[in-house]
Amino acid sequence: MFQYAMPTTLFFGKDCIAESGNIIQSFGKKALIVTGRHSAKINGSQKAVTDKLKELGISWILFDEVESNPSIQTVRKAAAAGQREGVDFVIAIGGGSPMDAGKVIALLCTNELDDAALFTGPYKKPLPIITVPTTSGTGSEVTKAAILTNPHAGTKQAVADPMLFPAASFADPAFTMAVSVPVTIDTAVDALSHAVEGYMARTATPVSDVWAEEAMRFIGARLPELGEPVSYEAREDLMYGSTLAGIVIAQTGTTLIHGMGYQLTYYKGISHGRANGMLFTSYMKLMAETMPDKVEKIWELLELDGMDDFIRCMKKIIPDTVKLTEQELLDYTKLTMPTNAVKNTSYDITPQIVSEIYADLK
Ligand SMILES: [Fe+2]
Repeated sequence: MFQYAMPTTLFFGKDCIAESGNIIQSFGKKALIVTGRHSAKINGSQKAVTDKLKELGISWILFDEVESNPSIQTVRKAAAAGQREGVDFVIAIGGGSPMDAGKVIALLCTNELDDAALFTGPYKKPLPIITVPTTSGTGSEVTKAAILTNPHAGTKQAVADPMLFPAASFADPAFTMAVSVPVTIDTAVDALSHAVEGYMARTATPVSDVWAEEAMRFIGARLPELGEPVSYEAREDLMYGSTLAGIVIAQTGTTLIHGMGYQLTYYKGISHGRANGMLFTSYMKLMAETMPDKVEKIWELLELDGMDDFIRCMKKIIPDTVKLTEQELLDYTKLTMPTNAVKNTSYDITPQIVSEIYADLK
């Protein structure tokens, strides 16, 4: 038995907001646009949204203060503005941080939740959410989860509920043309980790595997180009792959790479995709023991010769290292072990395994 849910209406392709944005008027008369400080203004996404809102006679307020790895404080501030102004729905524009923040803001506009209940629910229906991704990595545009930094838990944590699936998503690869080479690498590796982890998760299903294989095929074809400026055609493949990978993790959740990577981001400031990339090869070595057939299929889809070729490829695009102290190894392992990501990994993960992988990052 398995389940498949993907309630987000997805519009994909160049100029999709101008061409198909009329659906936005079904969500109400006043929008709260949630984004970061700069990139949505530079890459054309914010203008594409506001042009469409003007055309449709929909008013909006703008909250453009979302930081990387958004805090509880930020989403509360935006939700207070949304409540004060009586907005009907949220449009989240950006990479994972603004989209995740937008989901939680939509939730806080309709729910009174203290910091603990924010992560556990139960929730009442949030405002409708529209996502406009401007990077090709997170997949948040089509998932039911939002990741926030939670100082009470001392790590990044998910707010997750099926009601957080965006109502609509507009994925226009042209908005990613301005993404820098390092961020293009980080986000592509994040997307690849979603496809690969979802493919080998305990919760993988026949349907999620279809999307995972397709995501790997599209992202894999562009891996050799990641260290250089990327063409529009490659941007389109990367966004298609990352969106498919988002559909995968919306079904399966993530596994060990994400469970361990959050500590590297929270405590060491390493970007999410880079943290995942640093952990990727250790994870694949574990999976080669328990899921050799799927691992072989992954090499084929990524057009790689095998584990050594993958290690070479990852070293080239993510050469970063980090040396952790004995205390950090203990602390990060302790934070990782109870997570769903560990339970969802198709391997009997022990604290010793986690600690050894962290120690190996130097
Ligand atoms: Fe991720």
